[in-house]
Amino acid sequence: MIALAIDDVAKNYGGVAALRGVSFTMTPGERLVMLGPNGAGKTTLFHTISGNAIASSGRITFFGQDITRLAPDARARLGLARTFQITNLFGNLTVRQNIVLALCGARKTTFKFMRPLSAYGDIQTAAAEQLDRWNLGASADLLVRNLSYGEQRQLEVVMALCGEPKLLLLDEPTAGLSPAETLRVVDMVRQLPRDITILLIEHDMEVAFEIADRIVVMHQGQIVAQGDEAEIRNNKQVSDIYLGLE
Ligand SMILES: Nc1ncnc2c1ncn2[C@@H]1O[C@H](COP(=O)(O)OP(=O)(O)OP(=O)(O)O)[C@@H](O)[C@H]1O
Ligand SMILES: [Mg+2]
Repeated sequence: MIALAIDDVAKNYGGVAALRGVSFTMTPGERLVMLGPNGAGKTTLFHTISGNAIASSGRITFFGQDITRLAPDARARLGLARTFQITNLFGNLTVRQNIVLALCGARKTTFKFMRPLSAYGDIQTAAAEQLDRWNLGASADLLVRNLSYGEQRQLEVVMALCGEPKLLLLDEPTAGLSPAETLRVVDMVRQLPRDITILLIEHDMEVAFEIADRIVVMHQGQIVAQGDEAEIRNNKQVSDIYLGLE
């Protein structure tokens, strides 16, 4: 069984070839980390998988279903969730309220702005469970804008999980974090249930090796290497790219 198949995907923005001939597959439960320098096409690939952009050519299959041209919400309903490179939270709401909103989105509950959040009883219970599960109880009633940046990135991951996705796409969840905060995010990802397939973008090779079952390296819109830690460490082209020689 293949969870995700990327087959010869290209994406052009005007004259810019952001992706060229990208192909790989993921098995269910696999943790694949995508490495690559700025502008390599990593986020663009995420957009084509989540539906925030449509591939110019090629095919994307999710558990056997062709999703290449589906709208983002249709892909989300199939079990695909993502975070963004820039945090995508409601800063003026509390941690609990953000989680309630994520649960409402996941359950397709129509959210009425004039109705107090406390009126959504079962969702409040589910939110309390999520807060407990992720040790967020102490910050539940803090405004999100008052959290540290590291806590905000963790909350984003928790919100993406509210829909119980089969595939989770994480775009640089450790970007801008201190080493201690990075460790917490790495731990969190490693503790996620093994039935969730995870595709994660990371800049730092050592962080990538902490999380990955397998690594894909992108450069200038193409995959230039894939393999396990040893294969990537010993790949001359990958070290040249990282040293800026290519
Ligand atoms: N909406 C867009 N319009 C035009 N060009 C774009 C657009 N989005 C991305 N690009 C271009 O596509 C290429 C790949 O960008 P992308 O953001 O996917 O790279 P990335 O690997 O995620 O980089 P970073 O590590 O900086 O996040 C870049 O040359 C970028 O300028
Ligand atoms: Mg990016």
